[in-house]
Amino acid sequence: MKQQTTDPILEVQAVRFRYPDGSVGLDGCSLAIQRGSRTALLGANGAGKSTLFLHLNGILRPMSGAVLFEGLPVDYGRQGLHHLRSRVGLVFQNPDRQLFSARVREDISFGPLNLGLDAGTVRNRVEEALLAVGMTACADKPVHNLSFGQKKRVCIAGVLAMQAELAQILDRLHAEGMTVIIATHDMDYAYQWADVLAIMDTGICAASWDAAQLPAYLDQLEGFGVGVPRVAEMHKALAACGLFGPDLPAVRSHSELLDAIAKMAAVGSRP
Ligand SMILES: Nc1ncnc2c1ncn2[C@@H]1O[C@H](COP(=O)(O)OP(=O)(O)OP(=O)(O)O)[C@@H](O)[C@H]1O
Ligand SMILES: [Mg+2]
Repeated sequence: MKQQTTDPILEVQAVRFRYPDGSVGLDGCSLAIQRGSRTALLGANGAGKSTLFLHLNGILRPMSGAVLFEGLPVDYGRQGLHHLRSRVGLVFQNPDRQLFSARVREDISFGPLNLGLDAGTVRNRVEEALLAVGMTACADKPVHNLSFGQKKRVCIAGVLAMQAELAQILDRLHAEGMTVIIATHDMDYAYQWADVLAIMDTGICAASWDAAQLPAYLDQLEGFGVGVPRVAEMHKALAACGLFGPDLPAVRSHSELLDAIAKMAAVGSRP
């Protein structure tokens, strides 16, 4: 049995936040992030993931509830915020388009340039990504002039242009001892990468599970409508056929699933 670690580096406690137009960003959200852990925040569009992130480094301030860093409530004075932000960094995949009104090619370059890739590599990546999403002809248009569907394609191109490096960088930062939290819609990646899966749902953190225990929570996860990791689904289906015993150890990647099947097949073929 794994030892329960309780050394939260960051905590949000019953945080409520409304945007100026009245929209509820967080509705009593509580979550503890363990020091040195990898946490993936999952949840539908508008569930509150970005709003939660903006609270973690003090860009937004709770209207009620509290944010704690290293066990102490955040001090929202100038020095307090400076200290917090020197320890808690926030990286967005795309800059706020309203602020920058970048052209399509610039927008897609932003992520890979931020990751420190050289200009030549970035140029090639960006052209490939433009081609992949069929936006080469729009490369010099300002993003804010595009249709909704075209903006979505630009977003996808931005991710395509840097995804492999992003995964490597997340692994490296964690190996160096950093606590890493990501917000993602990619359940397969989250399950393979994270120690903890936190599910956001309409302004609250509805669940926070140890990824290694996920098989036990698969039915609950299905209820949240955020998708189910494909390997976990397959593992469960194979167990239902009697290939695995009832107490499923978590199988978190394609290669782990293949290993588990091979092991079972070897046991099954014994005389
Ligand atoms: N600047 C804003 N002004 C008004 N309402 C906002 C603003 N930003 C977010 N909201 C609202 O707050 C709620 C939470 O949004 P948030 O952006 O945190 O969701 P999210 O989980 O990050 O979604 P996504 O997966 O689409 O990034 C939503 O109802 C959203 O419409
Ligand atoms: Mg968001």
